Amino acid sequence: MRDQIVAGNWKMNNDQIQTETLLERLKTYEIPNKVRVMVAPSFTQLSQSKQLLNGSSIKVAAQNMSAAPSGAYTGEVSAGMLKGIGVQIVILGHSERRALFHETDVHLAEKVKAALASDMEVIFCFGEELEDRKAKAHFDVVEKQLKNALFDLETSAWKKIILAYEPVWAIGTGETASPQQAQEMHAHIRNLILNQYNPSVADEVSILYGGSVKPNNAKEIFSGADVDGGLIGGASLDAEDFMAIVNAF
Ligand code: PGA
Repeated sequence: MRDQIVAGNWKMNNDQIQTETLLERLKTYEIPNKVRVMVAPSFTQLSQSKQLLNGSSIKVAAQNMSAAPSGAYTGEVSAGMLKGIGVQIVILGHSERRALFHETDVHLAEKVKAALASDMEVIFCFGEELEDRKAKAHFDVVEKQLKNALFDLETSAWKKIILAYEPVWAIGTGETASPQQAQEMHAHIRNLILNQYNPSVADEVSILYGGSVKPNNAKEIFSGADVDGGLIGGASLDAEDFMAIVNAF
């Protein structure tokens, strides 16, 4: 049985005080045993979040990471630095990183390898843009993103990979893929992995959906047989909304 996961991508939100307020509220909720819950604060709040969540089952993830281990990379943070403060999960390839910071599949492949070399878990994000979907190229775009960044990994590396399909047109727009569109793409993704690897890799990898998941649509989206949870942006900033999504399976 693969993991059901709900991860909150806080993006560039929540300073020291807001982080404490939100995490203290999240800690008052009971987390269902069957769901892995994660939050991804900004770099400056990672240590604080680790401390506040000490003893909680909620895990802390970083939103990004350098492919390099150390050196002259002003403004960057390495896998070793994250591991040093106990952060074992990193989000890579988010569409905002791709669009605003020009991260390419090639660059992301390096980051994934660096994270795995440090034994970190990777939430790998990908998804098509609106024009791709209009041109009915969404399956091809997603296949290319996966192939370029992940398909030369060893079979065993997939134990540390969580996929997050996030159609760019649905992120922060209030527009979601329909539950049918999400399930259709997730089944396609699982099939690509089956063809490239084997049935157990395909069966075991968790595929999250991201893009305007809210308490009122999470249950329907998560009901897809190949949808194993969500990567949540806006709604992860509100404890009640986030926990409603955690409980939507
Ligand atoms: P959203 O963001 O839930 O605000 O659409 C999702 C994401 O960017 O991961």
